[in-house]
Amino acid sequence: MDIYKAMEERHSVRNYTDRRIEGDLLTEIQAEIKMCNDESGLNIQLITDEPIAFGGLMARFGKFSGVNNYIALIGEKSTDLDEKLGYYGQRIVLKATMLGLNTCWVALTYSKGKNKSDIDHGEKLICVISIGYGETHGVPHKNKPIEALYKVEGEMSGWFRSGMEAAMLAPTAMNQQKFLFTLSGNTVKAQATGGFYSKVDLGIAKYHFEIGAGRDDFQWA
Ligand SMILES: Cc1cc2nc3c(=O)[nH]c(=O)nc-3n(C[C@H](O)[C@H](O)[C@H](O)COP(=O)(O)O)c2cc1C
Repeated sequence: MDIYKAMEERHSVRNYTDRRIEGDLLTEIQAEIKMCNDESGLNIQLITDEPIAFGGLMARFGKFSGVNNYIALIGEKSTDLDEKLGYYGQRIVLKATMLGLNTCWVALTYSKGKNKSDIDHGEKLICVISIGYGETHGVPHKNKPIEALYKVEGEMSGWFRSGMEAAMLAPTAMNQQKFLFTLSGNTVKAQATGGFYSKVDLGIAKYHFEIGAGRDDFQWA
């Protein structure tokens, strides 16, 4: 599966089988996380074979089951931490999808206090991503009309539309899709338009946009 197919086929999955993540696949996921951390300075961690964080009432309320692995999205406190974790978290999600794993971003419906990640002084855990072999592959989300999500000064180029179509496939908290992409010449401005975890959502959507549009065709404002 290539990364374009991974964007299309990824859907949130909340129910997992007990098949473990192991061997080469585990090594590949860990390598991707290390690359993301090395590039960004973040402290993202994969926790495996740990059922407690998703074993309580919050997870049951959120209709999660069988979650034994999760990725803890952690970094030094800063104003751009949410967006950065969204961007790199989604890079790991798409890698996992290409490897045949299922995922779900989770901000609320788990026991944050019981999670087993190591958070250093000055760092913050923003959210986690459940990961494993799903009982299903999930279903596509509903979308806002594409026109509600962008503004174009002048004519819209093909790469911008492809970028927008990719951004619309991105997961967002409660499927809120509170982002706006504005095209001016070859420059794209991406903004969160408010709402719960919308800066994390923005980082996720920007990662998708870059893949859809092609990184060489434009620059971020
Ligand atoms: C930042 C963020 C936080 C999320 N938090 C939760 C959560 O606490 N519980 C949950 O069940 N789903 C959560 N989700 C998953 C969204 O509900 C889901 O991505 C959205 O409905 C779109 O569906 P899709 O991922 O299948 O495309 C979260 C997603 C994001 C991006």
